[in-house]
Amino acid sequence: MKERLEALRVEALQELHQVDNPQQLNDLRVKYLGKKGALTEILRGMGGLSAEERPIIGQVANDVRAAIEGVIDEKQNAFLAAETENRLRAETIDVTLPGKALPTGAVHPLNKVAQEIEDVFVGLGYSIAEGPEVETDYFNFEALNLPKNHPARDMQDSFYITEDILMRTHTSPVQVRTMQQMNGKPIKVICPGKVYRRDDDDATHSFMFNQIEGLVVGPNIRMSDLKGTLLQFVQQMFGQQAQIRLRPSFFPFTEPSAEVDVTCVQCGGHGCRMCKQTGWLEILGCGMVHPRVLEMGGYDPKEVSGFAFGMGVERIALLKYGIDDIRHFYTNDQRFLSQFARM
Ligand code: DAH
Repeated sequence: MKERLEALRVEALQELHQVDNPQQLNDLRVKYLGKKGALTEILRGMGGLSAEERPIIGQVANDVRAAIEGVIDEKQNAFLAAETENRLRAETIDVTLPGKALPTGAVHPLNKVAQEIEDVFVGLGYSIAEGPEVETDYFNFEALNLPKNHPARDMQDSFYITEDILMRTHTSPVQVRTMQQMNGKPIKVICPGKVYRRDDDDATHSFMFNQIEGLVVGPNIRMSDLKGTLLQFVQQMFGQQAQIRLRPSFFPFTEPSAEVDVTCVQCGGHGCRMCKQTGWLEILGCGMVHPRVLEMGGYDPKEVSGFAFGMGVERIALLKYGIDDIRHFYTNDQRFLSQFARM
């Protein structure tokens, strides 16, 4: 039996050395070590051995099994390693190859500037209010102290839909809508949105553009609050060196009214072509909310006061980026737009 075991070892190892794939290896494992394998077959004869022979043969059988198992494990590990290597080679990526540049979108410069303006006011504690672009004559004009036959209505040639409904010509109607909603409570809002006018398009005019309205109402709101707020806004938008000046003006919905200039963004106030040598650029209109407008919003002008302002987003964007034609914002030329992607 010992000879048969030794012969089995030699035969098995010889065969195992020639194995070159996992399937073959498995077949040989079954052939030699399986339940019906050669080793088991030989060991069946153990019953006929004497008590002295049994442990000796048992020891040999264990050695043979260990030797065969050892080679099988070795081979198996080698196959596994080769397979892993092949897989890794197949998955290899050359990170030095030039990449594909995928075109990515970016926020439109107008939206970017609008967001920046909104961020400044949100930082000052303002909420954002919105109103409809299709507006009633009442909110767009009448509630803002421009009665039906008021000459100021001629100032703004409008897109009428019916006699009483039009595309809003400014964001100011949101003032009155907000007051009616707030029901006498203090107000601090900005209202961004599109507005429409029957202008012929040119470098500084568009039939549609964007405004941001501001409205603060409460006890004891004063002109100095308005001025401080606007200075804060301008310095956050254009830099700490920026200054403002208020020029008396007229709007039917504010009294007193003012137009606000900022120190020229190009020359810093020394005078240049951009500011027509004045050192100042006009950026918005504002004033103290007219008592009649407060009343129409349901507020008592003896109890509260307020300030309001309105600015054009396009105008702020033109100044901020030194752009000379408003139409660039609407034609969406990629060469123009892509300049703002990295800003
Ligand atoms: N609504 C005005 C316009 O479209 C801008 C404006 C001026 C808004 C003064 C205001 C304001 O709130 O107080 O030209």
